[in-house]
Amino acid sequence: MLNGKNILLGVTGGIAAYKTATLIRLFKKSGAHVKVIMTPEAKEFITPLTLSTLAENPVISSFTDEETGLWENHVEHALWADLFVVAPATANTIAKMTQGICDNFLMATYLSAKCPVYVCPAMDLDMYKHPTTQENLKQLVKNGNRVIDAAEGELASGLVGKGRMEEPENIFAFIENDLRSGLKLYGKKVLVTAGPTHEKIDAVRFIGNNSSGKMGFELAERAAALGADVCLVAGPVKLALNDQSIRRINIESANEMHQAVMQEQADADIIVMAAAVADYTPEEAFSHKLKKKEAELSIRLKPTQDILAALGRDKKNNQLLVGFALETDNELEHAKEKLAKKNLDFIVLNSLKDVGAGFDYDTNKITIIDRDNKTEEFELKSKSEVARDILNKIISLLG
Ligand code: CTP
Repeated sequence: MLNGKNILLGVTGGIAAYKTATLIRLFKKSGAHVKVIMTPEAKEFITPLTLSTLAENPVISSFTDEETGLWENHVEHALWADLFVVAPATANTIAKMTQGICDNFLMATYLSAKCPVYVCPAMDLDMYKHPTTQENLKQLVKNGNRVIDAAEGELASGLVGKGRMEEPENIFAFIENDLRSGLKLYGKKVLVTAGPTHEKIDAVRFIGNNSSGKMGFELAERAAALGADVCLVAGPVKLALNDQSIRRINIESANEMHQAVMQEQADADIIVMAAAVADYTPEEAFSHKLKKKEAELSIRLKPTQDILAALGRDKKNNQLLVGFALETDNELEHAKEKLAKKNLDFIVLNSLKDVGAGFDYDTNKITIIDRDNKTEEFELKSKSEVARDILNKIISLLG
């Protein structure tokens, strides 16, 4: 969620300032860019050198650059930020934030910021409980800031109660969840299948196809980036996922894919069958390697289960079912037949006649046909852009 985001971290003068070192590490590890603004008092609690080293950016704390004497442009810093986090936020800074008091660089930057602001209060028990502080926290929320409430525990004064800054790991998780909750597929479970299946003939041979799995992987990544809880059932492919939140189930055969999908489908809101599932499998799979003989060899094949057709028959209320059709002739007609027969919400048609489309390419050219017979043809695009088009269609159907 935070990968590539610009985070401005405001550190104020409280003992919890030492915890911001860990918070910066978490932000940096997630791929965010971090700039730190310290109030003069914060420097009493942790050194700018520690925070600038971790953030890999100079710490700013005054309106003029100490070395060059040049003006530090607070507006520029504020507009650079995708997120503004004030941690720890002392009672004093919280009060200033509610009143718009602008007596230091942090406050000037706060007043210029247009991005979401997260405030992590940290102070002693009685300061925290004081009606003025409580009113100020409510006012901060009213003004559109997000308050990550103080935690209970031992305080620097020796008192025990509410007031200590929330742990960096929890602040990080709060921000991630908050960003995720604003995404279009937040709260949805998406089940995606990808790749080919391998139907075993003997210990070393199988019947397979050329599916690379790229389309299904792009769909899974894109759905996760839109906030979905994604489960990817993947056939034998040489692909890795970037998004570690995606749950990946590796399978080999059509039968294993059928079992995995059936286990995952009941609570799925959206199912996208992008896998190229084998239609036939050997009646008998030999556990040893078959030896070469002079005579002809026949392998009897039996049909596999049509997973998508089974999902269509047992479709849950409000479940959205998407299939793929890879065709070589009478493409639209065949795709429409599959759409109806498998009870889909829409089908994604690939024609092998289109150059650059289908198995193993990084590009694809699709036509989407929905159950109202609405047909949309798309240009040849990268599979990542095609995934975006497919998910846009899903989002439009979710309303
Ligand atoms: N599919 C499936 N289970 C199978 C075969 C296919 O779930 N045993 C799914 C695919 O994942 C795809 C859709 O059904 O989303 C259509 O697959 P496709 O191979 O194009 O069509 P088939 O139904 O197998 O028909 P045919 O091979 O005759 O074109």
